Amino acid sequence: MSILPLRPKKSTLNKQKTPSESRATATHIVLPDDTNTLNNLMGGRLMYWMDVISAVAAHRHSGRVVVTASVNNISFNQPIRLGDFVTLEANVSRSFGSSMEVFIDVWVEDHRTGEKKKCNEAIFTFVAVDQIGTPIEVPELIPESDVEKERHAAALRRKQLSLVLAGRMKPNDATELKALF
Ligand SMILES: CC(C)(COP(=O)(O)OP(=O)(O)OC[C@H]1O[C@@H](n2cnc3c(N)ncnc32)[C@H](O)[C@@H]1OP(=O)(O)O)[C@@H](O)C(=O)NCCC(=O)NCCS
Repeated sequence: MSILPLRPKKSTLNKQKTPSESRATATHIVLPDDTNTLNNLMGGRLMYWMDVISAVAAHRHSGRVVVTASVNNISFNQPIRLGDFVTLEANVSRSFGSSMEVFIDVWVEDHRTGEKKKCNEAIFTFVAVDQIGTPIEVPELIPESDVEKERHAAALRRKQLSLVLAGRMKPNDATELKALF
């Protein structure tokens, strides 16, 4: 574990990728084994689905094995019911040296009415590693749409917050965070 100030590294891989090149989606039906005693989807099951789909996006972006380094944000805004269809979409929002931030957007579809609405959002960080688990450089991410550009711009701030909370960065070195205050 390093406790060095964060230096956003410029990729020397000479390779760039857009979010659409690594986008990953999956749809699940909420089954009895996925629910709590109120017949709503368990939060842990949704987190597992999020971890898997975002790992696929990070793996596609880096072309490498990836490990989950941190979960930066998850919100559960409404219950998801037994029988509903749950669609997850994962997009890499920014890459740094070996790490990648991935956004997961979640929509729920009522199986009776067909009504589909956004219900959750989460942000995970993955690190690409080699065969012995050593972090390895990943391609630069070039955002295209307005949303991709917004998420890309704010990612450095979130990375600094995550590193400060993990004790990997001194608060004084978190320049992007300090700029907010
Ligand atoms: C993640 C891991 C590979 C980092 O290894 P390390 O030897 O500490 O490597 P470094 O300090 O060089 O960090 C590598 C990258 O991870 C980032 N990172 C590490 N911890 C982080 C955190 N909590 N939040 C955000 N980024 C983090 C670093 O900033 C660095 O990013 P960069 O290369 O893009 O600048 C290592 O801690 C690990 O293997 N953890 C276990 C992962 C795992 O098993 N996950 C599943 C849990 S069940």
